[in-house]
Amino acid sequence: MRAISSLLLLAALPAVLAVKTEDFKTCSQAAFCRRGRALSERAGQDPNWKSPYTVTADTVAISPDQASFTAGVRSSLYPDIQFSLDVRVHEDGVVRVRMDEVNGMGRRYNETTSWALIAEPQVSRDVQWKIGKQDVRAVYGPKKDVEIVIFLSPLKVVLYRQGKEQVVLNGLGLLHMEHFRKKEEPKPAPEAPEGDVKTDDAQAVMQAPPNPRAWFEGETEDGYWEETWRSWTDSKPKGPQSLSLDISFPNHGHVYGIPQHATRLSLPTTCGDNSYYTEPYRLWNSDVFEYLADSTMSLYGSIPVMHAHSADSTVGIFNAIASDTFIDIAQPDAKSTYTHWISESGILDVFIMPGPTPEDIFAQYARLTGTPALPAHWALGYHQCRWNYVSSDDVRGVQKRFDEEDMPVDVFWLDIEYAEEHKYFIWDKKTFPDPKDMINDVSELARKMVVIIDPHLKRTSSYPVYKEATDLDVLIKQKDGQTEYEGWCWSGSSAWVDFFNPKSWNWWKGLFKTVQSNSGKFAWIDSTTDVHIWNDMNEPAIFNGPEISMPRDSIHYGGWEHRDVHNLNGMLFSNQTYQAVMARTNPPMRPFVLTRSFFAGSQRFGAMWTGDNLGTWEHMAVGIKMVLANNIAGFSFSGSDVGGFFGNPDPEMLTRWYGVGAFSPFFRAHAHIDTKRREPYLLEEPYKSILRDILRLRYSMLPIWYTAFREASVTGLPVVRPHYVVFPQDINGFEIDDQYFVGGSGVLVKPVTEKGATEATVYLPENQVYYDYFTNYAYRGAKGGKSITVPAALHQIPLLIRGGSILPTRERPRRSSPLMKNDPFTLRIALSNAGNARGELYLDDGVSYAHKEGQFIWREFTAEKQGKTIRISSADLGKAKPAEAVDGVALVKYNGGNTFAKSMDLVRVEKLVVLGLDRKPSRVKRVDGGELDWSFTAGTAASDGKEGTASILVIKNPVTHIADDWAIDINA
Ligand SMILES: *[C@@H]1O[C@H](CO)[C@@H](O)[C@H](O)[C@H]1NC(C)=O
Ligand SMILES: *[C@@H]1O[C@H](CO)[C@@H](O)[C@H](O)[C@H]1NC(C)=O
Repeated sequence: MRAISSLLLLAALPAVLAVKTEDFKTCSQAAFCRRGRALSERAGQDPNWKSPYTVTADTVAISPDQASFTAGVRSSLYPDIQFSLDVRVHEDGVVRVRMDEVNGMGRRYNETTSWALIAEPQVSRDVQWKIGKQDVRAVYGPKKDVEIVIFLSPLKVVLYRQGKEQVVLNGLGLLHMEHFRKKEEPKPAPEAPEGDVKTDDAQAVMQAPPNPRAWFEGETEDGYWEETWRSWTDSKPKGPQSLSLDISFPNHGHVYGIPQHATRLSLPTTCGDNSYYTEPYRLWNSDVFEYLADSTMSLYGSIPVMHAHSADSTVGIFNAIASDTFIDIAQPDAKSTYTHWISESGILDVFIMPGPTPEDIFAQYARLTGTPALPAHWALGYHQCRWNYVSSDDVRGVQKRFDEEDMPVDVFWLDIEYAEEHKYFIWDKKTFPDPKDMINDVSELARKMVVIIDPHLKRTSSYPVYKEATDLDVLIKQKDGQTEYEGWCWSGSSAWVDFFNPKSWNWWKGLFKTVQSNSGKFAWIDSTTDVHIWNDMNEPAIFNGPEISMPRDSIHYGGWEHRDVHNLNGMLFSNQTYQAVMARTNPPMRPFVLTRSFFAGSQRFGAMWTGDNLGTWEHMAVGIKMVLANNIAGFSFSGSDVGGFFGNPDPEMLTRWYGVGAFSPFFRAHAHIDTKRREPYLLEEPYKSILRDILRLRYSMLPIWYTAFREASVTGLPVVRPHYVVFPQDINGFEIDDQYFVGGSGVLVKPVTEKGATEATVYLPENQVYYDYFTNYAYRGAKGGKSITVPAALHQIPLLIRGGSILPTRERPRRSSPLMKNDPFTLRIALSNAGNARGELYLDDGVSYAHKEGQFIWREFTAEKQGKTIRISSADLGKAKPAEAVDGVALVKYNGGNTFAKSMDLVRVEKLVVLGLDRKPSRVKRVDGGELDWSFTAGTAASDGKEGTASILVIKNPVTHIADDWAIDINA
């Protein structure tokens, strides 16, 4: 939902949509990026290039506990300036490299990790540093095959595994930490003398020695002290303070991550010969109107995390910096990747994640910034949004239509127009005269509402939220550090709360309380605890600000400039909202907070979406890639607006978009105020019925999604997983980003994003059977990979089950997901080539934190072939599994007879469907009981590897309960 110019958009999209690129800087329009790229150009042209930074050997020190290595660093160009280097190895092998200027004229921003990390990481006690003449090194790791080496002159940091270079910092010599300096007042230019007699001054100018530092820093002070761009002038009271750093990944031909960009998952190059893009990737949280579907431009959020991958290794880095950052990627050959990170300010603070597998990287990153919060179960249902449902009766009417059409939905959303003059929390009583009644009408069917709360506060003393913020003095300040910053947003003249100021936190919490306290402060008494929150515009978006945001010299708490903290801003806002929503009840309930802007760590506070996409096929397709990129960067709970925010998708496009949404972790339809209404019940047949089926499919698969979210919340593994994550050694899969797996379930999906498609090509990475989810057709993969063609008419979603998987589903249509609580389960048992299968199911009450106290069900289902018998059984994973997860809390307190499990005592498994038996069984019986009711349909796919329909054994009413241990034998 965004910018003022969107109000001018016509309902029908113009033929050519173009982002206003002129609203945003390119690298060449940002002085620090110009300087950084120029540095890399000079280095590239000079075969003798050598970094001027060296470690001063006599300052090398190992801390007494061996935990870290510290040293002084100097640049040969500025011998008087001191830098300090700190390198430490964490318990899990992650290496942290930090460098800052010391005793300088200013302080660089060093608090990014105070917000991004969950805790100060434990340093390994198992590392022995060896100080040599030319380097300092430490060998570590369970196999003692990882080595971190700090080369002293020039400074270079290398991570080796098995003697091979994996990650190299400053290998290209592009490290440059611009030190704080005094502005030299320029000498007045001498008057041109009369005649040809030269004055001494003029001679001096002409004979000025060349700048000795020019080879490294350039001839001129390019934008050091002030920068004007369009109508804005950025005063730079601290002068130049940018940070340039090259990070290379020798032996890794693919890099992924650094969301958010509308681009492929395997990141294309931005420089070097034949580069795909010419602009570097940018991380500067921005509200980009009508963004391009293939671009390196920055978007709403930033996660400076990159994976580098090859068939035998995955490594990663987290560059903890929150200022404007441009990243160049080059590939000198197909086997290695060079990256160059150029940031406007901040210290050097890089975490090197040694892998060696994608799974290891997820755990290493989760230990740093936390796992995603386990969402409320209902938040995985379908969300219906639009700008705007215009009145409480409108909301009731939409709900009624969903129910009449038997379409499931969990959440109705309200965009900005619910709020009087866009004063958030304040209902517009003309259109929403009875907000609590409306919310209660929605929650009567176990549904929720999500209401928008944006960070801009209308500057009027009659608005209690603004008034209280002013009294508390928690608003962001102008560059003088005193005057309240004022900008233009939805609410007109507005101010912004500074969530870096801890004083704002309790106050913000108070606003969401649904009962009045005796403090007399504002509380949202005309809402209820069934209302959850959407935080938009938190980059922050400011219509009349530079790059539609806040001036960089604005001042935050602690005196930091906005430029230092910009990319953190959105996360701090959604965190405070998350804390506030949680604090409404005692005991706390899981909040749902959707944020547009985010940073590393935002996964702890809810969901994100990809912002204001366009209703085009290109945007539909790139949305999938963006969601995958977010998932591998730790932020799984993500999705794109179904239907596209702008434009009026035709019924075919809208139908396909529901197929994309139903397989996104976050599933929400949304639309711009100028679009035609497009709720799923409004479509003609056959579209309407197809949409109903897709919605029901999502609901029937909620047990699979919830199990995947639970795994993500304890291990950091992504909810949707691209090929390189699941098959890290299959080189054919490294660029695949249009099909992916749902959690560890074995569900492989390739949503259709092409007009007029009737079939789709799906890549199968292994010699394994894959079953069509709907028809049970058995496709055969092959060693080394194989592409197959599957039917993909409008009513079909290419959806396969990997042989060897067991999927728990709930097949009864309900109006909302909480109404499914006591519904029975179906287990689809998709036998592998070898006749085995395995699957998991996680369940809890879906709303509280009782799971942290061990209140949950966690089952493992297996099918094991032994001779002529296949035994299918269900076992208690909560009991069996030690606390191996990153967050082992729940398991410690687990007991199989917990209250939640007891409450599910009567919930049955109503059906088992076994796919791929070789032949009709002779008997099917419970191990502890008698023969079961079963039927068998022979297939045409033989066990010798032919394709065809799989055989299907249906076991009806197997007299088992979901929370029980049981076993069934299928005898040949
Ligand atoms: C940031 O630097 C200051 C000054 O050197 C120091 O006192 C402070 O502890 C540092 N903060 C962090 C989070 O490293
Ligand atoms: C989140 O908020 C809590 C207090 O409400 C605070 O302690 C924590 O530092 C915040 N974290 C971030 C990332 O904002």
